[in-house]
Amino acid sequence: MRVAFTVNGEDMAAEDVWPGESLLYVLRERLGLPGSKNACEQGECGSCTVYLDGVTVCACMVAAGQAAGRAVRTVEGLAASGGAGPAPDSRLSSVQEAFVEAGAVQCGFCTPGLVVQADDLLARTVRAGGPAPGDAEIREALAGNLCRCTGYEKIIEAVRTAAEHEERAVRRGGAR
Ligand code: FES
Ligand code: FES
Repeated sequence: MRVAFTVNGEDMAAEDVWPGESLLYVLRERLGLPGSKNACEQGECGSCTVYLDGVTVCACMVAAGQAAGRAVRTVEGLAASGGAGPAPDSRLSSVQEAFVEAGAVQCGFCTPGLVVQADDLLARTVRAGGPAPGDAEIREALAGNLCRCTGYEKIIEAVRTAAEHEERAVRRGGAR
């Protein structure tokens, strides 16, 4: 079957998709978007997290056909859009920059999923005009994202930094 949808704001289509194929497989193997990682393929680790119509999902658990006509946003889309990038010349989102700065990337396999999930947390909090999430809220939001390298402290630090940055930007009335 043919599956057409938008990915990171662009119309895309995959041909000859098998009904059991996952959205993750289509993104990675058919559309050339390897950012979302395939680590467990069982909905357990969150490495494949993407937005589907603005809601985060595990792309390995979504049949590609379910995405037809809908809007998918992957970690590549956060980078390309600049997300809530702190520097005007930066192509990285604030969360991505903070991960780099905090040294929160070890092998990097869990990173794309964490970045998308953290982006969603900031969208629901600081970008919605609320306060920056505290550590407990950050940990809860990321509870479904497993890091095999276990560098959780740096990950929490990165999200905290990005949240504080975005909160300051909102207060200044600047970028979201
Ligand atoms: S690869 Fe999808 S949740 Fe682990
Ligand atoms: S950095 Fe290696 S799995 Fe998280």
